[in-house]
Amino acid sequence: MEVIGIEDGYEGLLTKNVVPMDWVKVSGILTQGGTILGTSNIANPFRVPVKKAGGKTVFIDESDKVAGYVEELGLDNLVCIGGDGTMAIAQRLSQKGIRLVGVPKTIDNDIWGTDITFGFDSAMGAATEAIDKIHTTAMSHHRVMVIEVMGRYAGWLALESGIAGGGDVILIPEIPYKIDVVCEVVEKRSKEGRRFSIVVVAEGAKPECGEQVVQRVVKDSTDPVRLGGIGLKVARDMEEKTGLECRVTVLGHLQRGGTPSAFDRILATRFGVKASELCHNGVGGVMVAVRGRDIVAVPLSDIGGKTRTVDPFSPMIEVAKKVGTCMGI
Ligand code: F6P
Repeated sequence: MEVIGIEDGYEGLLTKNVVPMDWVKVSGILTQGGTILGTSNIANPFRVPVKKAGGKTVFIDESDKVAGYVEELGLDNLVCIGGDGTMAIAQRLSQKGIRLVGVPKTIDNDIWGTDITFGFDSAMGAATEAIDKIHTTAMSHHRVMVIEVMGRYAGWLALESGIAGGGDVILIPEIPYKIDVVCEVVEKRSKEGRRFSIVVVAEGAKPECGEQVVQRVVKDSTDPVRLGGIGLKVARDMEEKTGLECRVTVLGHLQRGGTPSAFDRILATRFGVKASELCHNGVGGVMVAVRGRDIVAVPLSDIGGKTRTVDPFSPMIEVAKKVGTCMGI
């Protein structure tokens, strides 16, 4: 097969920015995080911003141009690697007759149709390592340490790094928390002589009857809301109610950097092989996915618009509770 890389995701299809991908170009990238092709979380061929005279921005549909460019390049298949926004656009492009295969990649692990996305395991490892390090200050200084992790509207990162890192409290978007319950837990621990607590908070967590904390709105992005700041709120509320000294660490993009875990390298390789087989066999309109131990293809039409969040009644939540973790209620 001849492989052409598209720079900066869908942006490259709009700006006609492509690069030949030969063996030399990909040599040694297995151990690198990120992407050598670059990415964009704004570019959407169905909604391209155009500045009009007077400064007003209007949005136009350039998907026909993109389809024309795919034809011009002589592409038999398009492979779209990314999260839910990428898959939603992929589904619409496939409806326009472009034969394409999606590959689920996000640290949020929130793509419907697959048990796991690549990137998640590495981010979960990074968050766990950070929690381990924060334990040092928590124990020495007898503090309540709040660690805010990413994950958008899904609590997978907080839940799994929280369990792995021995979080005493884990707050996730799927289970709105009661601050009084959280405070009771850390106070009880303190009274019993466990003079520190680790509270892992997903950026999308919210109090019962409260809202998620929005850090910024990225204009023109497929999902403009950027969450962030709930960790600080939890820490302030706890400090006020318990008098215990609380500190916050927001892990942010540290979770998205560094060398990928062995698990992610294997998963990405398995996804890549499956995607190339599907391309070779002329199959389109699908996303590669993990189901149990198998790599399968699921129709993109089954995925669109859905988010795979944590089921509050799932065995993983039960596991957390059984080892004494407070889930905020
Ligand atoms: O979707 C991946 C993710 O890292 C989320 O967990 C996070 O909310 C968001 O992206 C951050 O986006 P940005 O890099 O645009 O700040």
